[in-house]
Amino acid sequence: MNNGLDDVVATETVMSDVDGLAGKLIIRGHSLDDLAASARYEDLVGLLLDGFVDGLARGEELAADLGEARAWVFDNLVPACAGVGHLSVTEALRAALARLADGEDAATALRLVAAPAVLVPAILRLRQAKAPVAPDAGAGHAADMLRMLHGADPSPEEAAALDIYLVTVSDHGLNASTFAARVVASTHAGLASSVLAALSALKGPLHGGAPGPVLDMLDGIGSAGEAEAWLQAALDRGERLMGFGHRVYRVRDPRAEALKRPVQRLAATGHGQAGRLALAEAVEAAATRILARRKPDRPLQINVEFYTALLLEALGFPRESFTGVFATGRVTGWIGHAREQSLYGRLIRPQSRYVGPIPDRAA
Ligand code: ACO
Repeated sequence: MNNGLDDVVATETVMSDVDGLAGKLIIRGHSLDDLAASARYEDLVGLLLDGFVDGLARGEELAADLGEARAWVFDNLVPACAGVGHLSVTEALRAALARLADGEDAATALRLVAAPAVLVPAILRLRQAKAPVAPDAGAGHAADMLRMLHGADPSPEEAAALDIYLVTVSDHGLNASTFAARVVASTHAGLASSVLAALSALKGPLHGGAPGPVLDMLDGIGSAGEAEAWLQAALDRGERLMGFGHRVYRVRDPRAEALKRPVQRLAATGHGQAGRLALAEAVEAAATRILARRKPDRPLQINVEFYTALLLEALGFPRESFTGVFATGRVTGWIGHAREQSLYGRLIRPQSRYVGPIPDRAA
């Protein structure tokens, strides 16, 4: 029996390939570095859903359809977000997404892609007693999300940084949330149900909930000189260092470098907190050294969440929204996997081994 299904190959996919030993990520035939250097998120939507969703437009027409889908989400789903102030941002996003009807068509797919980009800023503004900002259907997806968050157009550097983030996290093999999406899709439940299941899996701190705690850790450490002692004490208490370790990577997560570059560019253009990047670099170096000493048999380096935390903070997202912003990028991967599963897969139904008591036959 394999408790966490490590090393189990559970499906074939054309979506993405994670090479954990070489530290390489391929997304539908393109290297992460190439995509992160040039692609807009709209382009990734076309790439990831190519051949999986009937009637999906291409190029600028797809970008326009996605803009219209953002407007549809704002008109139809944002009004219901006003009554969920008692929920966390991710829970409020989950509640809003649950109002979407299931379907497999292009309109359903694009509304699901659009939903987190519109809902996360709206939920955040409502929590600050501010009116949600309506989308601009003609704007770029990433730029529009930042405009809906701040109520003002982002700089080109900020829009580009969010585009790189959304592209970088758009798909990543059979991670926990994607597997959840495929399990639900394998029953032919529909795309909205698959995305809801995936979002629920993403919420946990072992998966998409880590970047907020990464900032908590940096705040707790405070200065580079304190890093060693703080990290040792946390590990002595049996805690895990957030933003470190990965089930598949045995080297540094390639997404970390893809995200560090825009963080450096943002810092150079005056965005974000001065000194945050230098502190993060010092913490990465100290933690990598300490973990190598403590766990010599298990390579533990930073994962995607480490520089995600710095990037989203520099863009003005509060830390409680980081998982929702992650979902904004990953949602298209979930939809592609869900469609691939329902088109070509079988019902996913593994077996369990019973280890409970056996009824007494004599009784
Ligand atoms: N800090 C300290 N020790 C760690 C860490 C960490 N971040 N990650 C793993 N370890 C240790 C474990 O304690 C374990 O030690 P042991 O054998 O002495 O008990 C050993 O490394 C192996 O750990 P596993 O639990 O087998 O690793 P697994 O593959 O299940 O975990 C995971 C991967 C969940 C990402 C883990 O590294 C972790 O908890 N990291 C912190 C949370 C985090 O950053 N999550 C985001 C992941 S990226 C993503 O999902 C988008």
